[in-house]
Amino acid sequence: MAIHFDKETKTFYLEGKNTTYAFYINSFGYAEHLYYGARVHRDYLIYTKAQGKNSCNATPPGLDKGPGFSHMNTELTFFGTSDYREATVHPRFTSGDRLTTLYYAGYDILDTKPAINGMPSLDGGKTLVLHLYDDVKNFGADLYYTVYDDADVIARRAVYINNSDDEIKLCRAYSFAMSLPGDNYDMITLHGGWASEREPERVPLHYGVSSIDSKRATSSATLNPFMAIVARDTTENYGDAYGINLVYASSYVLKAEVTTNGETLVLGGINDFDFEWNLGAGEKFETPEVIISYSKDGLGGMSRELHDALRNHIINKKYVNMPRPVLINNWEGTYFNFDTKKLCDIADAVAGTGIDTLVLDDGWFGKRDDDRSGLGDWVVNEKKLLGGLDAVIEHVHSRGMKFGLWFEPEMISEDSDIFRAHPEYAIGVPDRNRCYSRHQFMMDLTNPEVRDYIVDSVSKILDNHKIDYVKWDYNRNVTEFYSLALPPEKQSEFAHRYALGLYDICERIVNGHKNVFFEGCSGGGARFDSSMLYYFPQIWTSDNSDAEERTRIQYGTSLAYPLSAMSCHVSAVPNHQVKRTTDFATRGDIAHLGATGYELDTTVFTDSDREAVKRQIEEYKKMEQLVLTGDLWRIENPFTSNYFSFMLVSKDKSQAHLTCYRSLFHCNPTAHRVICRGLDESKQYYVPELGVILHGSTLMSVGIPIKFKDGDFRTVTLHFEEK
Ligand code: GLA
Repeated sequence: MAIHFDKETKTFYLEGKNTTYAFYINSFGYAEHLYYGARVHRDYLIYTKAQGKNSCNATPPGLDKGPGFSHMNTELTFFGTSDYREATVHPRFTSGDRLTTLYYAGYDILDTKPAINGMPSLDGGKTLVLHLYDDVKNFGADLYYTVYDDADVIARRAVYINNSDDEIKLCRAYSFAMSLPGDNYDMITLHGGWASEREPERVPLHYGVSSIDSKRATSSATLNPFMAIVARDTTENYGDAYGINLVYASSYVLKAEVTTNGETLVLGGINDFDFEWNLGAGEKFETPEVIISYSKDGLGGMSRELHDALRNHIINKKYVNMPRPVLINNWEGTYFNFDTKKLCDIADAVAGTGIDTLVLDDGWFGKRDDDRSGLGDWVVNEKKLLGGLDAVIEHVHSRGMKFGLWFEPEMISEDSDIFRAHPEYAIGVPDRNRCYSRHQFMMDLTNPEVRDYIVDSVSKILDNHKIDYVKWDYNRNVTEFYSLALPPEKQSEFAHRYALGLYDICERIVNGHKNVFFEGCSGGGARFDSSMLYYFPQIWTSDNSDAEERTRIQYGTSLAYPLSAMSCHVSAVPNHQVKRTTDFATRGDIAHLGATGYELDTTVFTDSDREAVKRQIEEYKKMEQLVLTGDLWRIENPFTSNYFSFMLVSKDKSQAHLTCYRSLFHCNPTAHRVICRGLDESKQYYVPELGVILHGSTLMSVGIPIKFKDGDFRTVTLHFEEK
């Protein structure tokens, strides 16, 4: 990795593992994009500049010739002085004027990337800080670019600076803008809802703006803050693929604009809808980071780069490669209907199987026998749990297992002691009724007093009991975007301040309890984003735990996120969400493609059920390191075929694992052959299930016949060991 500045041509070359990102300072004094793609030599790239179609463009300010900004592909776009494309920043000055021109004003190269104040971000990496400045308004932007050796990504963000004596209102303050040559791209995004998270959709970009966003003060299941921009002919394994993943958990927007000049501008960050930030004299505004990746090896290559970036630079290093808890969660086994004995029986039924953690889900606190009450009262319900929490914890620990507990720290029930004492802790507008969602309200995280209450009450439980694991849930989205703790002129800062408040309580609770492992959750997988992975090494992928449905949910999620981030459980049949019955083996094989666990009433287990769990976990342990650290090759796509196949290959290519799944059984089925991927052509691999030794070249060209058992929803798994 290197950052090089050619003084003669004023060109910056940012070199990642196999990529080059280049821009230069043009003769008008602006930072102008040149190239992002496969690594090239540090050649003179300015030859690529050619003005395209004219559509009444003005010239840059003060010059009577030259290309307008719409043709200039500046590294940061700004409105009002001849750029008619989407602006990256839109300030409003006290005079009422809203235009700015940001000239190049110097650069710094830092050996280590500075963290963002109060927001999660990637670590490490050589960093270029490009200073842009508008000296008419004393308004500046610092653009940060970080490159890495071990992942082909660039981390980018912008910091906006008010050096004037007056307040500046930021009506838009995106994190980045990036130009791509040509108008021939497709956009892939991940949409969804409860129990149907992250379904990929691929559409051609058209002239004009295509965008995805969230206005929910959360990243949402509706549209994940991820976008891939790919060449029209890009496939899973071939072609240009750019991945954009915003490290942010609140209202966001990502856009791709095909411009009149026949080029494509990609940009985004904090959603500017219902946003206005008051930047006081001398203040800076930091924007969330975005991870941008490039691969010439199609969507698969793009995903592998993003996975490495998240694993190596976002997820807590202590946990990233650590075997994860194999847990039994009582939620689907009991819902709210449990007591001390039932929980101890659940633990007893699985002790010795390899399940190493019991997680007590919703319902242990306050007066919470259903989902209408108790949230915010983080006090053990000793009527329900005779002997208190410690009776369960001691029992679980005595069986050699760890203990985990569910919280929903951001929520407050109307029927709770805390709401009765402090109704002002709930988000709301004084003269309006609040919207209910799952019968609950939300805590106003923009208010420091509310944050202190949450941190103190959750910490009290964690400090006074031997808790090894926490499931941090979040089951509704903000309505009534308003805080009683903010003055009127700051109300449009609410959604971003919510994110800052969330990061603050995560920082204090998670970092304050370094020996506790935290898992994220959001009514299933509705807040599955890289900012949350910074605090929670794994996230519950979906409340939909049906194996058939999970092949699609996990496939879609894998476009942007590594398998180690996906929490996946074996649950009971008929499945509680879709009422489908699938084999225990199938449920296990699909749940093994992530951080695995169980979620069912184990007190009904027979000895042979227990044996089956034990065998399943032994199998999981064989592939666990591949799930945590391996490269993912998506071989068959369940959205477009009757099959789903994932291949995991170790970084040194000495080991691999293949999981193949067939959805429906068709009578008298055709033969099915899978072409392996990601192996070393010259290495020989032993495949124990087939009793053969074959070269990687053979496995990746001739492939392997897959023989499923008769019946619907079957899996076949194969291991590959270098000989
Ligand atoms: C959400 C989670 C579930 C469970 C329930 C408890 O729906 O996704 O796993 O924890 O809340 O109320």
